[in-house]
Amino acid sequence: MATIKLHLLCFTFLFYTLNARNAPYVMRISCGARQDVRTPRSNTLWYKDSAYTGGIPTNGTRPSYISPILSTIRYFPLSEGPNNCYNIQRVPRGHYVVRIFFGSVLEPDFDNDPLFDISVEGTLVYSLPSGWSNHDDEQVYAEVLTFLEDGTASLCFHSTGHGDPAILAIEILQVDEKAYYFGPEYGQGTILRTHSRLSCGDPKPKFDVDYKGDRWGGDRFWNFITTFGQNSELALSTSKNITQASNPPNYYPEALYQTALTTAVDQPILEYTMDVDANKNYSVWLHFAEIDPSVTGSGQRVINILINGDITFQDIDIVKMAGGSNRALVLNATVPVSGRTLTITIDPTEGHAIINAIEVFEIIMSESQTLRDEVRALQKLKAALGLPLRFGWNGDPCVPQQHPWSGADCQFDQSTSKWFIDGLGLDNQGLRGFLPDDISKLRNLQSINLSGNSISGLIPASLGSIYTLEKLDLSFNFFNGSIPETLGQLTSLRKLELNSNSLSGRVPATLGGRLLHGASFNFTDNAGLCGIPGLPSCGPHLSLGAKIGIGFGVCLAVVLLVTCATCWWKRRQNILRAQKLTAREAPYAKRRTQFSRDVQMTLHHGPENARTAAENGPSLLT
Ligand SMILES: *[C@@H]1O[C@H](CO)[C@@H](O)[C@H](O)[C@H]1NC(C)=O
Ligand SMILES: *[C@@H]1O[C@H](CO)[C@@H](O)[C@H](O)[C@H]1NC(C)=O
Ligand SMILES: *[C@@H]1O[C@H](CO)[C@@H](O)[C@H](O)[C@H]1NC(C)=O
Ligand SMILES: *[C@@H]1O[C@H](CO)[C@@H](O)[C@H](O)[C@H]1NC(C)=O
Ligand SMILES: *[C@@H]1O[C@H](CO)[C@@H](O)[C@H](O)[C@H]1NC(C)=O
Ligand SMILES: *[C@@H]1O[C@H](CO)[C@@H](O)[C@H](O)[C@H]1NC(C)=O
Ligand SMILES: *[C@@H]1O[C@H](CO)[C@@H](O)[C@H](O)[C@H]1NC(C)=O
Repeated sequence: MATIKLHLLCFTFLFYTLNARNAPYVMRISCGARQDVRTPRSNTLWYKDSAYTGGIPTNGTRPSYISPILSTIRYFPLSEGPNNCYNIQRVPRGHYVVRIFFGSVLEPDFDNDPLFDISVEGTLVYSLPSGWSNHDDEQVYAEVLTFLEDGTASLCFHSTGHGDPAILAIEILQVDEKAYYFGPEYGQGTILRTHSRLSCGDPKPKFDVDYKGDRWGGDRFWNFITTFGQNSELALSTSKNITQASNPPNYYPEALYQTALTTAVDQPILEYTMDVDANKNYSVWLHFAEIDPSVTGSGQRVINILINGDITFQDIDIVKMAGGSNRALVLNATVPVSGRTLTITIDPTEGHAIINAIEVFEIIMSESQTLRDEVRALQKLKAALGLPLRFGWNGDPCVPQQHPWSGADCQFDQSTSKWFIDGLGLDNQGLRGFLPDDISKLRNLQSINLSGNSISGLIPASLGSIYTLEKLDLSFNFFNGSIPETLGQLTSLRKLELNSNSLSGRVPATLGGRLLHGASFNFTDNAGLCGIPGLPSCGPHLSLGAKIGIGFGVCLAVVLLVTCATCWWKRRQNILRAQKLTAREAPYAKRRTQFSRDVQMTLHHGPENARTAAENGPSLLT
């Protein structure tokens, strides 16, 4: 049973900006902002997120010059639970760059960077490394390239116990359906996480927007690098136009190719090493354009490219392959990396080495998600039981596998490639509320344990349709009403604990019969269950005929009673009339004396006189 406690909050954006056929969908959110914000220079619009109720909006700091110029953040203290999400609705299905900028709470004594995990559509894509805010580079954001198919972008932040996740901004930018196509594994099963993106020889970092890049490029951030640390590089640049850059599917900004790093004559190899995570696959994209005016034709510069020592591209002649000078050439390769470094080596066989830009992505297999109906059923259960935030029921119940919902047991179905819920363990959690009918949508449950809470209301009859159910423990709650007949249909049920509730009525015969043969059960301490050995009997079991007979008998008795009462009343009226005649002739005191005497007579003379006295007595005293 997972022990992570959390809660999740969803957030709906009702507006989206897909105004022209050719404009990509763009959604930018300034987290914690009460008003929409426009950032300078590019006049970029960032929507407020004040409709979002989770987390705490506050003033924050941007950890780096790369971060957009926004002053608010939203952070998620552990009291809000370990899993918190932004669910951005109405995102057209397509291929997207999703970028999340981290922030820091603006407080002098708030010196520890929070470390947390980020998932996109249920797949864990990034874990913040310690010291991230000291690096003035790409580590202030996480960026992935992913397909969004279901109209929603679900971005979740998972606490790891090292500080409160704090988010500065979110961007969801549509790109070409084939952007960064790297081979047959490309598609909905993979996510590309940006590891590095370097513009070589450029003295300044830039976004695509600074380069006047195409909007379909996803406004990439290009960090700058002017040396690979070899003391022998030369930065090249040109103002000539570069062709073939801003083409589909990747729409690179032309200016990217207007700078390059090359080598001096005496040290022809260019080598760049970056730290990576071990045992991952990386997609490496290398950019070239022949911008050196001294290279005028094919054959003058020929290079081999090695990645971690293996020749990945051989005999690359940029002028020849691009079709001339000042034309972009993009090469990509997928490489498995077992160690912690990735080294790109440009080894010339003719002329000097050169490179214009480098992109490296980690290839992440997307997680399968949990069956839709089951997620909805759990959300209903969460509401009906008023589940505390600490359970963290936000995002997907089963994925990322590192951060499942507390209290829901997950199983993976190979045949459908979906996760499903096979157990609910919410015992002794102080839950109130009721059990909704929708619990039956969790149709693969094998065990339910809600023991020791304060759940009230009826046991839903729909439980009887969860045929896989083997253990049902609802003991020590306030369930009332009777045990639904449908539970008798649960042929796999081995354990049924309904003790210590307020249940009443007959235990269904089908259930009682089967339980007596093998299954264990406990019905004790209820308001009034009956009908199986060990419990009180429910009284004679009557057929329909007997019930009609009894009904008829009761009617007859009523008629007789009414008749008798009428007779008695009439007789009494007659006696009264007779006594009034007598009373007119005798004073009250005498009548009273006579009554006393009559009573005494009853004592002395037996029942017949006594009855007479009783009949006369009340009428005299009135
Ligand atoms: C954030 O800063 C603004 C001024 O810049 C101030 O008015 C506001 O009270 C601050 N909010 C918080 C939560 O500190
Ligand atoms: C990347 O390389 C693969 C083969 O290695 C190729 O099929 C694909 O077209 C390349 N992608 C782009 C966008 O050029
Ligand atoms: C270079 O491109 C710009 C626009 O991108 C254009 O105005 C200019 O004429 C081009 N220059 C040449 C030499 O083609
Ligand atoms: C890397 O790719 C290979 C071949 O596609 C695959 O078998 C392997 O599982 C991948 N490794 C990781 C860590 O994803
Ligand atoms: C349910 O949980 C309670 C208390 O945590 C435990 O004693 C009981 O055995 C569990 N029931 C089943 C059927 O496992
Ligand atoms: C069960 O209890 C609820 C209150 O918790 C009450 O409204 C309902 O009438 C009860 N039902 C039965 C059948 O006793
Ligand atoms: C049934 O539950 C009661 C408490 O409600 C407990 O005292 C008793 O031992 C249980 N019986 C069995 C057979 O487990």
